[in-house]
Amino acid sequence: MPAYPVFVDTLHDTDRRGFASDNYAGAHPEVLEALAAANAGHVSAYGDDPYTEALRARFVDLFGDGTEVFPVFNGTGANVIGLQSLLTRWGGVIAPAIAHVNTDEGGAPEKVGGFKILPVQTPDAKLTPELVRAHAGSRGVHTIVPQAVSITQSTELGTLYTAPEIRAIAEAAHELGLALHMDGARLANAAAALDMPVREFTRDAGVDVLSFGGTKIGALGAEAVVVLNPDAVTGIEFLRKNTMQLASKMRFVSAQLLALLEDDLWIRAGAQANAMAARLRKGIQERGIPGVAFTQKTEANGVFATLPEGVADRLREHVRFYDWNAATGEVRWLTSWDTQVDDVDRFVGLIARYCG
Ligand SMILES: Cc1ncc(COP(=O)(O)O)c(C=O)c1O
Repeated sequence: MPAYPVFVDTLHDTDRRGFASDNYAGAHPEVLEALAAANAGHVSAYGDDPYTEALRARFVDLFGDGTEVFPVFNGTGANVIGLQSLLTRWGGVIAPAIAHVNTDEGGAPEKVGGFKILPVQTPDAKLTPELVRAHAGSRGVHTIVPQAVSITQSTELGTLYTAPEIRAIAEAAHELGLALHMDGARLANAAAALDMPVREFTRDAGVDVLSFGGTKIGALGAEAVVVLNPDAVTGIEFLRKNTMQLASKMRFVSAQLLALLEDDLWIRAGAQANAMAARLRKGIQERGIPGVAFTQKTEANGVFATLPEGVADRLREHVRFYDWNAATGEVRWLTSWDTQVDDVDRFVGLIARYCG
């Protein structure tokens, strides 16, 4: 029994897990414990606290000397602030058209950040050096001037950049005088999949600013802007406040990230999600379920597939997930840090039943 009265009843079925989004999962118990541990007594506000201090040291361990970390509330805020810090007022950002920063941030880059996204069509949500070069031009005073490139790791389509691919993009961008930003909302899934120190495919590969994701992988709500190349940014220390991302009780944002970094919890959580996505795909393949065609590689925690007409809606009577492209029957299945073998196997059984 807790030593305090409980005012909120559980209002949902706690056994229910689906494949709609890694944002549907709860917070990891170790994150909740860290919040409780950080809770008692008073500490300074706005980041001048021991948890944020410890977080700075952890990020230096991870990414090397000179790394700076700025905790924020959400991924949109991290992307907007990170990119703003790389741009002048006339700068724009080359990004895949499908990128979250282009399609799913409510126009925050333009409305809040004051910069334009320059979208590039890609088959797999990945930019290449050739695509960067092809879109880096400017027609003088009439156009937004490309000043940064944004890539997402792992991508919105569940694909991954290898370290050499990132290095090649960084080289092309830097040669053109552009900075490289990485949206790492799913960095944990990428780190687990690549099975290499995170520094190798970020800072060492030429990424200047990283949006470090915590929420999808077990935080309650915590992300961070990580500056890997301090020479590339201006005014980053001022941007959180005027972008409404400066937490007064920052100890709680930092404590969540610290918990995720402890003993590589974030990477273990990413590995679990990835393993469950791989199991889902393999389960469908092994049973030879008719009518299911995969549309993307499964390299992290996403499975994209087309289904026979009507099947998605019948499956959704049992399990939540989203249409990706209703016109083609393409759906997106995402796994989370808490997805279990039974969840996947039951779902494969359902797919077999309705496609059979
Ligand atoms: C690729 C990507 N970037 C960033 C975000 C962060 O979004 P939010 O502002 O909802 O935390 C998400 C969340 O869905 C995402 O998928």
